[in-house]
Formats: sequence, structure tokens, C-alpha cells
Amino acid sequence: MKKIITADNTESFLNLEVNETYHSQTGAVEEALKKYAEPCQIKERAKTGSIKILDMFFGLGYNSAMAIQVALESNPNCQIEVIGIEKDPEILAKIQEVNPPIAFFQYYKQLNKNHLELRQGKVIVKVLLGDVKDKVKELKNQEFDAIFYDPFSPKTSPEMWTRELFIEMYRVMKDSGVLATYTCARMARENMAAAGLVYDDGPIVGRRGPGTIARKWV
Ligand SMILES: C[S@@+](CC[C@H](N)C(=O)[O-])C[C@H]1O[C@@H](n2cnc3c(N)ncnc32)[C@H](O)[C@@H]1O
Repeated sequence: MKKIITADNTESFLNLEVNETYHSQTGAVEEALKKYAEPCQIKERAKTGSIKILDMFFGLGYNSAMAIQVALESNPNCQIEVIGIEKDPEILAKIQEVNPPIAFFQYYKQLNKNHLELRQGKVIVKVLLGDVKDKVKELKNQEFDAIFYDPFSPKTSPEMWTRELFIEMYRVMKDSGVLATYTCARMARENMAAAGLVYDDGPIVGRRGPGTIARKWV
């Protein structure tokens, strides 16, 4: 793993095995805000008083740390629960080496392979460490208001974009829930639709194509 600085001047890593970065090179922290927190309406949902987020492919945790920050700015009393899924303890260790401009991220520094849970005020973050295919089975039906779906690309990791995994996402999402991802790849969208999700374009951020947002057909 090699550290890189993305275009918004925030840090990420290049994974040398898949030869992909953990975040968009157009801006790691910008991506967390614009491709995940904003399209999932975290600010608005926080006003209801509680919010539960699934941070799929947790990595350094930027996406959920940003969402917590946005939610607390919107409603400091909001009860927030984040469940993250990640298989690689090495990337969790790298949390110590980055300092994104996200105030809540200071508490993420408590996380590592031996300490997978943090509590801070009304916020709980739990990381399920292991392969996504096993860990999703531990999630309850209709738990989540928002799902951040952030694996490596469909090109290098097609097994992370299957109908089977999106069926699990459908199962754990509330009827009012939303899933956001950074890509508009056809294969990803077709498998979402095959799982019963209805998708639309997400925001265009940087120079890349739109992301995708998906909801349940209810
Ligand atoms: C694009 S990165 C995620 C970046 C992350 N959201 C962040 O903000 O740092 C994809 C992540 O998927 C994880 N991953 C790859 N295969 C996995 C699997 N089978 N189960 C769980 N996580 C996996 C990788 O270790 C990597 O951290």
C-alpha cells in the first residue's frame, strides 16, 4: 500500500494488488461528502433524531466519518449507529497514518483489528472484520437508513457487485432507505435491478461519470 494525495489535498492509499486507489483521485474527502453523505440525505435524516448507516467496504472509514460529522452538525443530539464491513486489518491500521479534515475522524483512530468498536456521546461505530459474504449474514432485516457501497471497481472486483450481494443490501435496507455508490457501471446497475432495487444517477463529482443511488421498489 502506498500513500497518495488526492486533488482536494486529502490522503488516500494505492492498493498495489488491485492497482486501484481507495478513493477517487479527484478528492478523497470530497467523494465522502458528495458521493455518499449528500445523496443519502444524511443532513435531513439526522433531524429525525436517529440514523443507522451501513459502511460497506469500510477501509479508512472516510465515508461514515464524514456522514457522522454532517449528521452531528445538523442535529448534535442525533443517535447515530454505523456498522462497517471490512476484510483487511492492514487498512484499519492505516487509519493512524491519515488526517482528513473531518472532525469526527479523530475518534476513528481508536479503531484497529483488536478494537473494532467505538462509542462517543450518542454515536456508536462497529466494524465487522471479515469477508463481506459472511459478514452481511450477521445484519438484521431492514436496519439501515443509508448504505455506502464502496468496493474496488466492477472491473477488478466483479464479485463485489453481484446480484446476491445486492439482494442482501435490499434485505437490510429500510423501506425508506437509500444506497449510494460511486460508479455508474452497467453491470453494477443491472445487478441492483435484478435484486429489486430501483436506481438513478447519483451526483457527478470531479471529471468522472455519475455515481448511482438506489432505493427499494415498495
Ligand atoms: C475502495 S476501498 C474502500 C474505501 C473506504 N470506503 C474508505 O473510505 O477508505 C475497498 C475496500 O474493500 C475491502 N475489501 C475487498 N474485498 C473485500 C471482501 N471480500 N470483504 C470485505 N471487504 C473487502 C478492501 O480491503 C478495501 O478496504
